[in-house]
Amino acid sequence: MKLSVELAPKHHRGLLLSNPVMTASGTFGYGTEYQHLFDIQELGAIVCKGTTLEPREGNPQPRLAETACGLLNSIGLQNIGVRAVIEEKAPVWAGWRVPVMVNIAGETVDDYAEVAGALDGVAGISGIEVNIGCPNVKAGGAEFGAHPDSAARVVAAVKAKTSLPVLVKLTPNTTDIAEVAVAVAEAGADAISMINTLKGMAIDVAQRRPFLGNITGGLSGPAIKPVALYMVYEVAGAVEVPVIGCGGITTASDALEFIMAGASAIQVGTANLTDPKAPFDVLEGIKQFMEKEGIEDIQELIDTARR
Ligand SMILES: Cc1cc2nc3c(=O)[nH]c(=O)nc-3n(C[C@H](O)[C@H](O)[C@H](O)COP(=O)(O)O)c2cc1C
Repeated sequence: MKLSVELAPKHHRGLLLSNPVMTASGTFGYGTEYQHLFDIQELGAIVCKGTTLEPREGNPQPRLAETACGLLNSIGLQNIGVRAVIEEKAPVWAGWRVPVMVNIAGETVDDYAEVAGALDGVAGISGIEVNIGCPNVKAGGAEFGAHPDSAARVVAAVKAKTSLPVLVKLTPNTTDIAEVAVAVAEAGADAISMINTLKGMAIDVAQRRPFLGNITGGLSGPAIKPVALYMVYEVAGAVEVPVIGCGGITTASDALEFIMAGASAIQVGTANLTDPKAPFDVLEGIKQFMEKEGIEDIQELIDTARR
């Protein structure tokens, strides 16, 4: 049975995964936290927590709110900063078989470019995932990924600073996600991952105040799956580069839906927070499905739902 997928077919080095199951940024730490629990080398790839130029303490508490079938988070990109990633994490990753991608974030286009440049050539890092769902501080806080032009500017700046394959993580908080996808693909994205969280909020009725310290947060989990699936279907039909599906994937059946909607790989996110074994179960379930259906190669399933 062939499960491998190539996520950067146009890149000189490529980005070959042994299987299509990845972990989503911010929900699986740096991978190191789980290495004593599972054989993490079995995964297709690990995407680490969003990384910025300087370490960040993140937003005020509370930062998590449970909602019906979903989770609101406003972590505010708490992270150890790019230098600590290079010095402390990458040397561990360099000894792993599973490829690790560093998710990067910034407040300006230059921030993104500088983080990407710092990661270039570092052993243990197989690719960069650019989170364009961050507020553009110089443009009044609109997300870079909300508009094709600003999204493409970030991607072009990152591509100019790195020889690594670049995945671009789209935000659903935009009018026409396919338009943004086309723009980032033209700017050089090797693959597109999607979706990031949907903007939302919760109110503490007893206090009559917003529940989250940051007032708003990002919605994830099973609640967003149908939205994410539709967006993946739209984007996979609009671009040539591989699409990586993410949003509410909890079971193998969820993952197969995304693959049939056009995703070449998938990411498990919020499900890890209740069960860190979820990505392993998803992989096992995909294998079982293929065996039962007599499917030799995962490629036979990709995009099969398109009409
Ligand atoms: C607690 C938490 C932290 C997250 N941190 C990041 C991050 O640093 N960078 C990023 O691109 N996405 C981040 N995400 C978004 C996830 O990677 C994923 O795109 C989103 O949650 C949708 O997938 P899911 O429903 O499977 O969680 C975070 C999500 C959660 C729940």
